[in-house]
Formats: sequence, structure tokens, C-alpha cells
Amino acid sequence: MDPTRNPYCPGAGSPPPALVGRDAELETIRIAIERLRLGRFAKSVILTGLRGVGKTVLLQEFRRLGQSRDWVCQPLEASEGMRFPQAMAELVRKVLLRLSPAQNMADRAKRALGVLKSFQMRWNLPDGAGDLSVGLDPVPGWADSGLLDEDLAGLFAEVGEAARERQKGVLVTVDEVQYLKRKDLAALIVGLHQVSQEQLPFLVVGAGLPSVPALAGEAKSYAERLFNFRSINRLGDDDAKAALVEPADEEGVVWRPDALDQIVRETRGYPYFLQEFGKQAWDLADGPAEITGSDVDAAVATAVDELDTGFFSVRIDRTTDSEREYLVAMASLGKGPYASGRVAATMGKDTPGVGPVRDKLIKKGLCYSPRWGEIDFTVPLFDDFVRRRLRQSAGFRQR
Ligand SMILES: Nc1ncnc2c1ncn2[C@@H]1O[C@H](COP(=O)(O)OP(=O)(O)OP(=O)(O)O)[C@@H](O)[C@H]1O
Ligand SMILES: [Mg+2]
Repeated sequence: MDPTRNPYCPGAGSPPPALVGRDAELETIRIAIERLRLGRFAKSVILTGLRGVGKTVLLQEFRRLGQSRDWVCQPLEASEGMRFPQAMAELVRKVLLRLSPAQNMADRAKRALGVLKSFQMRWNLPDGAGDLSVGLDPVPGWADSGLLDEDLAGLFAEVGEAARERQKGVLVTVDEVQYLKRKDLAALIVGLHQVSQEQLPFLVVGAGLPSVPALAGEAKSYAERLFNFRSINRLGDDDAKAALVEPADEEGVVWRPDALDQIVRETRGYPYFLQEFGKQAWDLADGPAEITGSDVDAAVATAVDELDTGFFSVRIDRTTDSEREYLVAMASLGKGPYASGRVAATMGKDTPGVGPVRDKLIKKGLCYSPRWGEIDFTVPLFDDFVRRRLRQSAGFRQR
């Protein structure tokens, strides 16, 4: 059928044509925003889930929700090697400018910019306030202790006060939380803990891989009390079908029931896969206004191929030979989670011997440890992909 009308959109952070099955999460954030508006306490939220399950698009939706309440919403995406104090300073600067445009800057926002200046001087950061800081003095004694948690708490509190003065609020989303260094994550947790006592309209929502609760717990023991960890899972059958049916319906196209059942089976309800299979089935269908089981049959190979060369391949592009050997050993054991000892034994080694490789894979976000002594892929159906690759090319290990 006409690809220009194809509604499905597989892609990292691509907003789906129908965002289904996430009402509970949206309600949690709506309530948090309303409570903070009333000066009540609300916990920060961290979404956790496998790759492609829909964390980033939910963060976008939260920001849209915040904007509709006239909140200033600012995203941050963590990456390996990111300089966290600098990223925070840049983020705070953007928030302050959006809270209070330069020509019309309220006193509280001016003071907050002064505090930001102190923070930047203490942390040897470039002067992020730019032209606006001309004639602005740093505010000594605020956000300049040299202890990142205290200084972040000081900055966040200023932002919260500036927002309150303007009768607004601030929502910061932090994506890919697993890439934050342990000390940065600890500082963020403690900093948020301190400002949360003041019940300011300042909310942080994070998202990351399933390893995040454990990382947060290691960084600070009371993290689980401070954050509301919500795990984002694949969609149930009815929601998975709705994710395909609703967008087609808007285009006057109908999915045959057997076609839907087959896609749900193939994708196991994982949102990224639903978008990819939906897209290929639409393009291959003869139409004019329905998608049948045989259209899906024809689409499977193309969809799998697209996923293999895109979604899955990007994950292994940055792995070393020994890391790949570990992934192959995992996949050879069937479905996860896998006992680390068995993976090591499959490689003819003992657990400590492969510990560094295992740690590297966790650090790169390819694997996580669901429980002590266990390991699993962070990418759904990755075991199938590795086995397919092995079949296709005997040279996969050496690639
Ligand atoms: N609730 C949903 N309903 C339908 N499609 C969805 C839903 N959530 C996400 N998708 C689709 O799934 C794909 C992946 O979404 P997204 O990039 O948000 O996942 P993610 O969890 O952030 O993945 P990663 O961990 O790789 O960053 C996108 O193509 C998006 O359109
Ligand atoms: Mg994402």
C-alpha cells in the first residue's frame, strides 16, 4: 500500500502513531505535577526497561504533559564520558532563561543565575550564562562548596524557587541514566533528596535500562525510598493490537485478525518490533484497504532483515572479539536469564576469568544482571539475533 501514508515509525525516540498501554505512567506523572503545584511532596520517578520498549517516547510525553500545565520542561540524555556538572549547568541555564526571558528577568531568576555563576566558577566550567551574566555577580556561599551533591541541591533549589515565584514548575527528564558515573548518580540522588524536602515545583524523571535500580542502590542506599522505580514492559496482546489497529483505522485500513495474531506472536508485543513489522506489512500489502495474514507472511523476512541491520547491529558494532564470544556463549544457552557460571563454563573458563568482559558488556548497556549471579541481554530477542548471525556467518566470532 501507499508508503507515503504508512503511519508506523520504528526508530529510537520516534513518537508512535498511537501511544498505548502507558496510562498508569502518565497518570503517575500527572499526579506528581499537580501535587507539586499545590506545594505537596511528590517522588521523582525512574522508568526502567529493555531497549526499544518505549522509555524515551514516554519521557517526551511527560514533557508534553508538563508543557500543557505551563511548566518548563528540559531533557538531558546521559552518555558515556559525559561531564555531569557541565551538563547540569547548561541545563539549569536553559531552564532559567525559559522561566524568565532576559528582557523581563524576575529577581529570583537573576539570583539563580548568580548562583549558577558561583557553581560554574567552583567547578571550573565555562560561563554558561553567556551574555546574561555580564554585570551579574556570583552569589558566594551557594552551590560552590565543591561537594557536587550539595551544590546540585543548591542549584535545584534556586531553580525551584524561581519557578515558584513565576507560578510555574520545572520538569527535567534524564534519559539513559545507566551511563551516569556512580559518583554523579549519587550526587543527583542526594541533591534531589535535599530539594524534595522543600516541596518546590521541581520534578526529575529519569529513564534507563533495568540495571538502574541496582546502580542507584549502590550509589546511595536510600535511593529506592526517594525514587519511584517503574518498570516499562512489552505490551499485552490487546494493547499490542491497538498499537497497530488505531493508526490504520485513521487511514481507513483494516487489519485481518489472523494478521494481527501473527504480528503479536512474532514481536512478543515489544513496541519497537511492532512498529517495524507494522511498517513492512503495510508497505508490502496489496491493499487497497486491508492487511492480511499473507501480507504479514511476506513481511516477516524484510522486517527481520531491517532489525538485524539496524536495531540489533548497532548494539554489537562497538564490541570486541572477547565480548562477542561472551554474547555467543549466552545465546547458545537458549533464552535468558543465564547463570554467569554457566556462561563462563560454556567458554571453557571460570566466572572470575570472564568477569571483566561481563562488566564491560554491562557498562556498554548490552547486558544487565537481573539477580546476583545472573546475566541477561538488555535488548529483547537479542539471543535469536545472535543465533541467526551465527548461522549466517561462521565468521561472526571473528568479525
Ligand atoms: N506505547 C507504545 N505504543 C506503541 N509504540 C510504541 C510505544 N512506545 C514506544 N513505541 C515505539 O517503539 C519504538 C522505541 O521507542 P523508544 O525509543 O522510546 O524506546 P526506548 O525504551 O527509549 O529504547 P532504548 O532503550 O533503545 O533507548 C519507537 O519506534 C516508538 O514509536
Ligand atoms: Mg531511549
